Amino acid sequence: MNSNRHRSELIVALDFESLKPALDFVGTAGDSVTWYKIGSQLFCSAGPAAVAELKARGKKVFLDLKFHDIPNTVAGAVAEAVKMGADMVNVHASGGREMMKAAVKSANERSKLGARPLVIAVTVLTSMDELALSDVLNRKDAYAPSSHVPHLAKLAKDSGMDGVVASAHEIDFIRKACGEDFVLVIPGIRPADSSTDDQKRIMTPGEAVRKGANFLVVGRPVLKAKNPAEAALAIKTEMEKNM
Ligand code: C5P
Repeated sequence: MNSNRHRSELIVALDFESLKPALDFVGTAGDSVTWYKIGSQLFCSAGPAAVAELKARGKKVFLDLKFHDIPNTVAGAVAEAVKMGADMVNVHASGGREMMKAAVKSANERSKLGARPLVIAVTVLTSMDELALSDVLNRKDAYAPSSHVPHLAKLAKDSGMDGVVASAHEIDFIRKACGEDFVLVIPGIRPADSSTDDQKRIMTPGEAVRKGANFLVVGRPVLKAKNPAEAALAIKTEMEKNM
């Protein structure tokens, strides 16, 4: 156990274009994976049935639809996500304080009778670098994501959010700004022996857990493995060893 004492869970990103291969994968992986992420591709293809099928198999669902709209609309979307049985939902922190508060309030109200999902904020997309961020924010200086991410994370925390999605390289900054109880959901994870694909700011499962990640989001290293269940188990074993 490291000094941070964070529990870490593996979330496998079901980045498939339809429900059939996604469910085939879930069947193959069996008990080695508990948490799955449904992103906009699978949700646009299969809709709420994707969530229902995973819940029927006893799985936990991170509905990664990154809501970003006026507070009333986001509150309505979160309410529907809670009704579907999602265990984690997310919104963009750049939607602002009122929008995030509305998301949390809606989750609280809708889940009075059942479990409340974790409500998570997306900070700066890991696909954005300094140039892209300065461009969007109309800044003449090169504004680093590592400066903007802790600011948005703090805004998310002050708005009642449970945690944020961020790169493993930002964990230290966010922990400093938001404390040890804030939930950190970390994509861009690559086991030492796997391809980096298009991810740029990567970290191994062991390193990310040691830094204090609570959830690791992994797609291709598991989905494209010859034996997905084995690949997932190997990542889980590496995570356990570093908790
Ligand atoms: O295949 P790979 O492990 O790169 O997949 C990572 C998953 O995490 C994908 O579903 C991707 O959309 C998602 N993600 C990400 N970076 C973010 C947020 C989500 O890679 N900042």
